[in-house]
Amino acid sequence: MFADPSGELRGTVTADSLQQVIDHYDAGDWRADRVLITGDLIQDDSAEAYDLFRELLLPLNMRMHCIPGNHDVRDLMKPICRRPPFSYCAKEEVRDWLLVGLDSCISGDAGGEISADEFDRLDAIISASTAKHILISLHHPPVALGSTWLDTVILYNGEELLQKLQAIGRVRLLIFGHAHQAYEEEHHGIQVIGTPSTCRQFKPGSKDFDVDDRPPAYRRITLHADGSSENELVWVDN
Ligand SMILES: [Fe+2]
Repeated sequence: MFADPSGELRGTVTADSLQQVIDHYDAGDWRADRVLITGDLIQDDSAEAYDLFRELLLPLNMRMHCIPGNHDVRDLMKPICRRPPFSYCAKEEVRDWLLVGLDSCISGDAGGEISADEFDRLDAIISASTAKHILISLHHPPVALGSTWLDTVILYNGEELLQKLQAIGRVRLLIFGHAHQAYEEEHHGIQVIGTPSTCRQFKPGSKDFDVDDRPPAYRRITLHADGSSENELVWVDN
């Protein structure tokens, strides 16, 4: 988002594009209980852009778990995204599942890492929970995606994170943003999922930065009591 509701990113009015995704959800039969928002909410470093984001999503009337991306400004994002029904890098237990949002951002760097403090926070959350299954969300992909330019700004300690999550033995899903493209692979026994943006997409497999012409998208994820899950990637065509 931009403070200006008519603000454009690479030729797309970002507020309109997000609204189009929300309208698509509203018009469908599939109903969600929660929204996971995986970072890069704003583009212009303004508190007003976060207000606009909040205003657009509030009518969904459900809990919304937010984590920061490299384009976010934590000090502006926190006060707005900590007001219910939004939450910021939160944990929540929902029946058999524990949902945890991690902060993977490094100030001044497009790439990310899970800091020692964030690993400690994660350990404490997981030790205190008896949930059978865990879903982790963070902004940066923990694995290379096969795109030369993008792979230089992923999670720098992705392998360390995946090994720690595997050792926990209850982590089933890891959801990331940042990549503006679809991704779904299993790593270390964990389903790793990336979802395209609600705005413009990046061209998969590109050597240099390149914008794709795919439409906005979102993903419908269903978590089952036995730890399995289903998901459907939804492209929002006009
Ligand atoms: Fe990002």
